[in-house]
Amino acid sequence: MEKAKRAAGYRAADMILDEDRIIGVGTGSTVAFFIEALREKNLMHGRMFVASSLDTALKLREMEARLLDLSTVDHVDVYIDGADEVDAEGNMIKGRGGAHVREKMLAYISRRNIFVVDESKLVGKLGGKPLPIEVLPNAVSHVLKALRSMGLNASIRSSRCKDGPCISDNGGVIIDLQVGVIEDPEGLEARLLRIPGVVDTGLFIGYVDRLVVGMRSGEAVVKEFKRRRGLL
Ligand code: A5P
Repeated sequence: MEKAKRAAGYRAADMILDEDRIIGVGTGSTVAFFIEALREKNLMHGRMFVASSLDTALKLREMEARLLDLSTVDHVDVYIDGADEVDAEGNMIKGRGGAHVREKMLAYISRRNIFVVDESKLVGKLGGKPLPIEVLPNAVSHVLKALRSMGLNASIRSSRCKDGPCISDNGGVIIDLQVGVIEDPEGLEARLLRIPGVVDTGLFIGYVDRLVVGMRSGEAVVKEFKRRRGLL
């Protein structure tokens, strides 16, 4: 899928406009190709970047990009990010990399949202992949109990580099839900956000303006959506 991811990342770089001064950058392997394309196409100069994760901030710093902290901005001109699954309406599951809380903040404050995926991410209905939520550390026990009482299969994501839970860049704990086919994404989101201590979910509903789908052939197809959420 490297070829497909690369095609999507490079095509998204072609969508950066001259007037885009502040660019939000998501997290993951497809976005890494977008960052590479920024440098190759000489798009870094005169622009500032807001990273959705430490991982992305470090990648941007390697290229001497000018970084702004998310806490100091109330908008970005355009936001580029990947996704784990995208349905026909442009709803998504994100958060495999544990960055979905900041990613959603950036998608919320962005004037244009461009998501980049390879063709394997397109699904009829969401739910084949785990749905992550981020939880405050002192809420973990009761959130797990609440999720299980809702009949959801929930488990704390384990860290790969140390014993114990995967802790996000925000200091939150990531819990993965195996939910199966999600018939009602907005309903599920509302139920999850009702539990005190849940910071946010990996469900991104109504945030896409443009979806760039990289194909195995190396081509990229662009789909347009009517965005429904955000500080527009
Ligand atoms: C990061 O937490 C995720 O939301 C990523 O945006 C998502 O997992 C896509 O990553 P890949 O481009 O590596 O598949």
